[in-house]
Amino acid sequence: MSTFTTSRRIVLALTLSLFAAGAIAQAQPAAKSEFVPEVGQSGKDVVWVPTAQGLVDRMLDMAKLTAKDIHYDLGSGDGRTVITAARRGATAYGVEYNPDMVELSRRNAAKEKLAGKVTFIHGDIFETDFSKATVITLFLLPELNVKLRPKILAMAPGTRVVSNSFTMGDWKSDETQTAKGDCTSYCTAYMWIVPAKVEGVWKSGNEEIKLAQEFQMLQGSHNSGGKLSNIQNGRLRGDEISFSTGSARYAGKVSGDRIEGTVTAGGKTSPWVATRSK
Ligand SMILES: C[S@@+](CC[C@H](N)C(=O)[O-])C[C@H]1O[C@@H](n2cnc3c(N)ncnc32)[C@H](O)[C@@H]1O
Repeated sequence: MSTFTTSRRIVLALTLSLFAAGAIAQAQPAAKSEFVPEVGQSGKDVVWVPTAQGLVDRMLDMAKLTAKDIHYDLGSGDGRTVITAARRGATAYGVEYNPDMVELSRRNAAKEKLAGKVTFIHGDIFETDFSKATVITLFLLPELNVKLRPKILAMAPGTRVVSNSFTMGDWKSDETQTAKGDCTSYCTAYMWIVPAKVEGVWKSGNEEIKLAQEFQMLQGSHNSGGKLSNIQNGRLRGDEISFSTGSARYAGKVSGDRIEGTVTAGGKTSPWVATRSK
């Protein structure tokens, strides 16, 4: 065999092997690059903007979140609020519509020892049952907060709801705080405490108390043996009720159709119990 023929064979063999290698390379799926979120990327009802860690911490402080709490972040983004709540020992859930963000949250949580403490649900906040939550965090929009409001108001009295930057329509917040430090935009948080439902007529001995309720605010009248006065400074903080009539100050705990507490008048504090008659 001539040298020429041999070299042609070598070139042909090399060409074929390179072609085969290329074909194999093409047949292999390209390694999937890890999803990197972009601030402002579209979401179902609201874009993704992360809450600064300083405000996340502040929001959970405002809620007085403890290891006994069940926390839900509705629209959980990269999972930072859920992970922070779980680090504090709470059982924490995130609900997020974007599947890439759900996967990212799970990866972020996996980097910490939070097994059994965090769950990321791929779903729509308007179709997910979050009724077992004792603490809810939100960073949505005012109209989305208002849309969630009926479900929130139906939750157990004392449930704390903390929203980054956006209010809840005419339900005024119980507390507002602003974070500094790493927070340069969207730094104010509002907190609401789901109030007990106390509207109606309450009896205590010869006293009759009529209460009208708008969220946590109370108005009404007090009738003590025919002596009528208005309810003043009436409000609820979860299941804790307080109001004044004339110079008497009432404070108690609501449990369904019963209030147990105290009345303070003329410098003397006495036990006080009322039951709802209507
Ligand atoms: C402003 S970001 C807040 C993210 C996170 N809560 C935080 O504070 O860092 C809102 C998130 O809600 C998600 N989202 C929008 N509409 C949603 C819906 N209907 N159900 C579930 N998630 C939704 C978006 O994809 C986005 O990640």
